[in-house]
Amino acid sequence: MPEHIYIFDTTLRDGEQSPGATMNVQEKLRVAKQLERMGADIIEAGFPISSEGDFESVRTIAKAVEKCTVAGLARTDREDIDRAWDAVRAAKYPRIHVFIATSDIHLKYKLKMTREEVLRDIADAVAYAKKMTDDVEFSAEDATRTDLAFLCEVVRTALSAGATTINIPDTVGYTVPTEYADILDTIRKKVEGIDKVVLSVHCHNDLGLATANSIIAIQHGARQVECTINGIGERAGNTAMEEVVMALRTRPDLFPYETRVDTTLIYPTSRLVSQITGMKVQPNKAVVGANAFAHEAGIHQDGVLKEKLTYEIMTPESVGIPKSSLVMGKHSGRHAFRDRLKSLGFDLNTDQIQKAFDLFKGLADKKKTVFDEDIVAIVMHEVLRIPYRYRLNYLNIVSGTSAIPTAVVTMEIDGEPVRDVDFGDGPVDAALKTIKKMTHSKSRLLRFAINAITGGTDAQGEVTVHVEEDGISVLGQGAHTDIIVASAKAYIDALNKLEYQKAKMEVDKMRAASPEGNV
Ligand code: KIV
Ligand code: ZN
Repeated sequence: MPEHIYIFDTTLRDGEQSPGATMNVQEKLRVAKQLERMGADIIEAGFPISSEGDFESVRTIAKAVEKCTVAGLARTDREDIDRAWDAVRAAKYPRIHVFIATSDIHLKYKLKMTREEVLRDIADAVAYAKKMTDDVEFSAEDATRTDLAFLCEVVRTALSAGATTINIPDTVGYTVPTEYADILDTIRKKVEGIDKVVLSVHCHNDLGLATANSIIAIQHGARQVECTINGIGERAGNTAMEEVVMALRTRPDLFPYETRVDTTLIYPTSRLVSQITGMKVQPNKAVVGANAFAHEAGIHQDGVLKEKLTYEIMTPESVGIPKSSLVMGKHSGRHAFRDRLKSLGFDLNTDQIQKAFDLFKGLADKKKTVFDEDIVAIVMHEVLRIPYRYRLNYLNIVSGTSAIPTAVVTMEIDGEPVRDVDFGDGPVDAALKTIKKMTHSKSRLLRFAINAITGGTDAQGEVTVHVEEDGISVLGQGAHTDIIVASAKAYIDALNKLEYQKAKMEVDKMRAASPEGNV
């Protein structure tokens, strides 16, 4: 029987300490409910004394979550512990998480305390918390830079005061796997009774070693891993939950351990946290990045189409991504292209496929990655000759140091000429606002990026916009020497693609509802 590894998720506490990742009470509650669905064992919901908002969030989550332990963080002060307890006491399984720094650097410069004073605080705080709940975790902040003999003394003190989980954090992401293993081995050897409680690890990613350190820690006795979704957290972040869980699941030959996590909820949870915090996931991020299951090279694509095992160590479906995406580019072959057309819902004859493939190859020579939307545009407008809904005919901008940015736009909408004017916070804003008004679009602009294709002031500007409506998101692109025109073209391109996707979804829905699959 594989041993259980407790997943302690601190997205809502340490994760929220990422610059700019602040969440309000309702947003935290949504993340907490998702973590509960996904199967986290413990949710660290916040640091209740730090603000009214944090207190409220922890209390709300404690009341709403039933299947996980809910923890509140506290320093060793009694006031902190009282506040943490008030916040978590309504939980079905409440935990108080007490911490104090133990390294000489922190004692000398931050706490201005002696080692004896720290030991006294630990004994007092853990015993005080223990009067409120049996489930008390103690963390020795900056443990990996703490004198090892003193760290053992710290752990002994917390244990005798009643701590049920002992956490050995690598607070500044300083340790490396072999050293971390030694620290844990020493504690397990020198501290009597440590085998009666849960040994926990909490790693930061300053040297990119957080996952490796957490994994080796499991092999050296840790049974709780503290982590965050997408690895968000202070500075370079914390151990990424998805990486630890998938490493254990992918290599059962090395790791005879299990977690409660439903891995198919990993990707949706990653998306939720990214949307709520506004922290984008880097495309090459392990497990949940946009490219994590994307294969670009022709040889790789051919291999994956023949047998996924050739280049995929885990399936996208296992982490909740519906299918792997072959990145279509100039290296892609006919086989992959035909496959992609099918998955995009096009049933073309041989001549149409040939025409689409030639056009696709021409486009791939000009741009590195051809997106699904580009293929859709090729098929719809060049092969099937379905007309664009929106077309830009005329754009005039007034802007400058003393002018209110104003855009006059003429478009063709469903074949009819339409003209309008509006103001904006800048020339691009004025143009996009006017277009939005004319098309009555309910979409949101998620991202706007300009790239100069060539050097010099006469450079072609290439604009990419990311637009979303009702869960459908598309990229639009436009290029022109005038960046305002490029922006308008990119926006209209995105709106056309959005219209297409919405229509396609309707057709798919009708197809699913029809018993024969016909519409
Ligand atoms: O990094 C750290 O040491 C912490 C503790 C409070 C556990 O976040
Ligand atoms: Zn931390």
